[in-house]
Amino acid sequence: MPQAEFVVVANRLPVDRDADGGWRRSPGGLVTALEPVMRKSDGAWVGWAGKPDLELEPFDADGTHLVPITLSAEEVELYYEGFSNDTIWPLYHDVIAAPRYRREWWNAYVAVNRRFAEAAAEVAAEGGTVWVQDYQLQLVPQFLREKRPDLTIGYFHHIPFPAYGLFSQLPWRRQVLQGLLGADVIGFQRVADAGNFARAVRRQLRYETKSTGIKVPQGDGSVRMALAKAFPISIDVASYVELAERPEIQARAAEIREELGNPRHILLGVDRLDYTKGIRHRMKAFGELLQDERLAVEDVTLVQVASPSRERVETYQQLRDEIELTVGRINGDYDTMGHTAIRYLHQAFPKEEMVALYLAADVMLVTALRDGMNLVAKEYVASRIDNRGALVLSEFAGAADELGSSLLVNPHDIQGLKDTIVRAIEMTPAEQGRRMRALRRRVREHDVEDWSREFLAALAGIRGSGTA
Ligand code: G6P
Repeated sequence: MPQAEFVVVANRLPVDRDADGGWRRSPGGLVTALEPVMRKSDGAWVGWAGKPDLELEPFDADGTHLVPITLSAEEVELYYEGFSNDTIWPLYHDVIAAPRYRREWWNAYVAVNRRFAEAAAEVAAEGGTVWVQDYQLQLVPQFLREKRPDLTIGYFHHIPFPAYGLFSQLPWRRQVLQGLLGADVIGFQRVADAGNFARAVRRQLRYETKSTGIKVPQGDGSVRMALAKAFPISIDVASYVELAERPEIQARAAEIREELGNPRHILLGVDRLDYTKGIRHRMKAFGELLQDERLAVEDVTLVQVASPSRERVETYQQLRDEIELTVGRINGDYDTMGHTAIRYLHQAFPKEEMVALYLAADVMLVTALRDGMNLVAKEYVASRIDNRGALVLSEFAGAADELGSSLLVNPHDIQGLKDTIVRAIEMTPAEQGRRMRALRRRVREHDVEDWSREFLAALAGIRGSGTA
């Protein structure tokens, strides 16, 4: 088996199986984020192929060595749908939905995390670097360190880390903290997430923390320094600019407007169909604006792309029913033969079509109730090479820390959200340009390569500094 100097461990492999059994790169933000690093480093990627009971030998794709992890149908149910997405996901997103604490799910989570750690331990070269990704794998850093103390281990948490009062609900809170502290660097999206984590470590484990440093006592009485710090993730800006510059994509944007009946204003929402995204709040505000006659269906259409997600988890099924009921009601009340209020698409689209949509949209609505970062906000900004369009952005999305030139909203405040939507629609081209230029500057100056470079530099730095 080849040994890799650099190994990524993530719940999913960076590829999906297509209809004829081949593999193509999967479209998710995480994959896009790490692709440039992988290409340069000749690394390995440990992950699940996305289907139960699939037993696959390691294989190479696009210069990356892929190490598939097999999950049984039961493990998918207990570890992925259960503990990852019905316990940790709702708990870490401020309990927007009620987390369920089930010992059976926890046991499967431990067993599967161990399997990922073992696979990484086997493929990593002596003294190599392993970068573990996200909440599905919080115990991997510790398990990996136990097996391979020679490795440098990083962990990046893509979703929020909750306030202590919420985190402390977790029956396995100490184990999760110990799991994460197996890493040399624990990266978060926002300064507040890193602060919440450090507080939980102080309160639960009584370890000393100082600024971003955490003193982790070792079995032999020595102390290892771990770093818990914010490294806000970003996107591959150049690839969005390149697509937005293509004449055929600009033509497609014009065609989309036409297909929608050339409304004066197009509003756009793009989300995984997830209860954290505030899709209902957005629709409520839009429906009321039609009802109040502050907006007219002939003038404004809301395009809502809601890509299918975690469809076997009950909370997601309920959410889908509620949203589809709401769309049906609003359209039933306000549509005319030629115009629709909400064009709802429960589908995923290729990146080319997304950029065309971004170019067609006058107002982008990102109204998440809680979101680690929200890369859609950054994708919209990166695509607006014409410096036009307005971004309405929830202050509860990590992106709000960087994108202060957007129109920030509290999505729970429906009145405020309505007023902000109208304000975005009425924004003069001059103001759009001023704001969009500032947003684009920020996104350009800190793209995904900066993110991974800064994280990996911090990782190299802390390992070089030795123990305290
Ligand atoms: C979020 C998580 C990722 C996850 C993605 C898609 O962005 O942070 O870890 O991969 O959602 O969710 P899924 O459950 O389909 O992997």
